[in-house]
Amino acid sequence: MKTMEFDELVRARRSVRAFRDDPVPLDLVHRLLDIASRSPSGTNVQPWKVHVVTGAVRARLVCEVLAHRETKPADDSAEFPRTGKRKEPYLSRMRTLGKDMYSRLGIARGDDAASWRQWGRNYAFFDAPVGLIFTIDKELDAMSFLDIGMFMQTLMLAAKDHGLDTCAQGAWNLFWSVTRRVLSVPDDEYVVAGMALGYADPGAPVNGVIAAREPVDAFAVFHGFDPAAG
Ligand SMILES: Cc1cc2nc3c(=O)[nH]c(=O)nc-3n(C[C@H](O)[C@H](O)[C@H](O)COP(=O)(O)O)c2cc1C
Repeated sequence: MKTMEFDELVRARRSVRAFRDDPVPLDLVHRLLDIASRSPSGTNVQPWKVHVVTGAVRARLVCEVLAHRETKPADDSAEFPRTGKRKEPYLSRMRTLGKDMYSRLGIARGDDAASWRQWGRNYAFFDAPVGLIFTIDKELDAMSFLDIGMFMQTLMLAAKDHGLDTCAQGAWNLFWSVTRRVLSVPDDEYVVAGMALGYADPGAPVNGVIAAREPVDAFAVFHGFDPAAG
């Protein structure tokens, strides 16, 4: 069911972190992936690979990753290099998001146990009935990670256009050894990210988060335009 203009659709997509348990039919997920496959990719390599989980397989994945996280919490680095430094202005943006999210969840600053539990909700796909795990051939380079991002965004917009909600989840590139084992991800692929897919719980306070954006003039530099031409 298409109800929105494109601009409105883009603005309406938000990361949802509490889902209802209504199932999402296979043919609908298939359709969304088909639309997402129209995403561009450098030299059309189409590097995306996706494991879609629901039902018993989803339950097993969630259970095993959460159990692993409890027993080996330090096993939390991605398999591929994630050497980026957290600095300003990015830190402030992260903190603003975290503050809003955690206050809506009633988690006080410094309550590490509650924060740990809440972050763990990632590994239950925030209760979404469908989880997606994106993998990529280890021999492809960083450019192909961009392609995966484009695929994920097209998928998220297509989902929104069909009345569904999503949350992209970098969290799934941690504890990848469990995901690899449960889903039989080949050794020559990295687990890049995950995604929760389903119907938002409209009553959940956490879904009220509206992540702020910087204005265009804060990130864009315009060259060669004639301001008089509008
Ligand atoms: C690559 C990527 C990884 C993300 N990983 C997570 C994650 O692991 N857990 C989570 O709750 N949100 C995650 N997010 C959601 C971001 O926090 C969210 O996109 C951002 O705050 C902007 O909010 P919006 O999506 O509601 O517009 C991720 C988003 C992207 C694009």
